Amino acid sequence: MEKDCERNGIIGVVLAGGLGTRMGRKTKTGYRIGTNKHLMQVHDRPMIDYPLETLVSAGIKDLVVVIGPEHVESSYSALRYWEEERDVRLCYALQKSAGGIAQALGLTEFIVGDRKCVVILGDNYFQDNLSDAVEEFKTRNDAKIFLKELPDELLFEIKDGKKKSRFGMAYTQEGKVVEIEEKPEKPKSNYAVTGLYMYTPDVFGKIKKLKPSVRGELEITDVNNMYIQEGRLGFYSLLGFWSDMGNPDSVYRTTEFLRNLEKK
Ligand code: G1P
Repeated sequence: MEKDCERNGIIGVVLAGGLGTRMGRKTKTGYRIGTNKHLMQVHDRPMIDYPLETLVSAGIKDLVVVIGPEHVESSYSALRYWEEERDVRLCYALQKSAGGIAQALGLTEFIVGDRKCVVILGDNYFQDNLSDAVEEFKTRNDAKIFLKELPDELLFEIKDGKKKSRFGMAYTQEGKVVEIEEKPEKPKSNYAVTGLYMYTPDVFGKIKKLKPSVRGELEITDVNNMYIQEGRLGFYSLLGFWSDMGNPDSVYRTTEFLRNLEKK
């Protein structure tokens, strides 16, 4: 499959592994909802179509999708639409266990190689168009994150009896990101780090230096903080609607947004 991906330019990476544990019930043998979370229907299409659309509408048509081992065939079948009707070139990488976003990205090194990459989470919905950001990224040697200012009611969740942020939270000073904290209990701002990142090829060297966090994952937040230490992390603020679709509430909110958009 690798031969189908071009060896130059920017490549998109869609992360659709993981277990989807926040979506509902768990069983002794693992999480079961009958399908991969990313293939669940949201409004009128599979969830994963939204992040793919975000990349494709910004002109990124060479893509690698990271999928979990349980639903390889159904993922492949759902994604054929993009190859057959949208002129997209797809490669796949397999994430055998849920070890975090940075681990999933690390698995794509053999395909991404020395290209720049735009990474998007398979459960994130973005209304903004990325074309300008992608054009700018082509000319630069730093990484970029995309922030969304959220009201408190969308920021927090109760987990293990504790109230904490649902997202990585970014702090900026004089137009620069100075720190990112992964799901803090008391965030110092309302700027959530969304699941969209632009990286230079040296991201893979950074991933190799990571140690698992308290939740046992290789955190993308740690990668972003390494770029901050090098003075190489820029950011954009999103203006349009953004939501993850990682739990029933956020799926509902996104569906509601899409329904209203259709009515306009
Ligand atoms: C991940 C990242 C987090 C980011 C979020 C966006 O969280 O770790 O920093 O804000 O995606 O959706 P997770 O989905 O692993 O809880």
